[in-house]
Amino acid sequence: MRKQIAAANWKMNLSFQEASQLLDNILQSGITPAAHQLFLFAVPFPYLEMAKQKLNRIGYEAAAQNCHHKIKGAYTGEVSAIMLQSLGIRYCIVGHSERREYQREDNAMLAEKVNVCLNHSVIPVFCCGEPLAVREQGGEKDYVKQQLEESLFHLSEDEIRKIIIAYEPVWAIGTGKTATSAQAQDMHRCIRLLISERFGNHIASDIPILYGGSVKASNAAELFHCEDVDGGLVGGASLIADEFVEIMKALK
Ligand code: PGA
Repeated sequence: MRKQIAAANWKMNLSFQEASQLLDNILQSGITPAAHQLFLFAVPFPYLEMAKQKLNRIGYEAAAQNCHHKIKGAYTGEVSAIMLQSLGIRYCIVGHSERREYQREDNAMLAEKVNVCLNHSVIPVFCCGEPLAVREQGGEKDYVKQQLEESLFHLSEDEIRKIIIAYEPVWAIGTGKTATSAQAQDMHRCIRLLISERFGNHIASDIPILYGGSVKASNAAELFHCEDVDGGLVGGASLIADEFVEIMKALK
């Protein structure tokens, strides 16, 4: 079975003390992932080591929310994939829509980020998804196709099979407006088909595709039940222990 993943994206929230307490509360639930499940926690950089220490168990992993597209050098304030690797961090979100929008990250730069991650044993959680105006005009599939083509389709078979994809329609992020399970399944199927056309079905059928955008305990099970939805990338609801534990439980 494909990996099923519940991924928390804390964004720029929580003090160190609150972050530590939140992880303790989640771990207290005692939920153990099945062999095909993975629980990821994308925490702010200064909390990575603390999160790694606490989560250091099979199926729980600390993740970064971003890394720079260059490997080292005079880039004040940035963090490289080599640094993540040296900390033992094995996952990194790449291309979140907030970074595309506020930091002007484009598809070409994200291709470089994917490369530096893979070259340093960091698995990218690659985000794609269309803004509202694009969906209103019916252009969402072409939009996502271009994101995949320009950031992922240069990879080799061995590389693409390591990637985790997160489909996050921009209009659903932090808005409380979730895509319906039919909309999510339709886009996830489309993404899998595109990967299949480029790399073959044997690869496409193994790549986890997460849904993100206002996932909460009350809608997670319905979304995750869709055939091509392999879990979620969760912002707001991942800051509340009980909510996120329910989301972890909702995985296939
Ligand atoms: P949200 O964020 O769950 O708060 O909508 C999801 C994300 O941005 O990854």
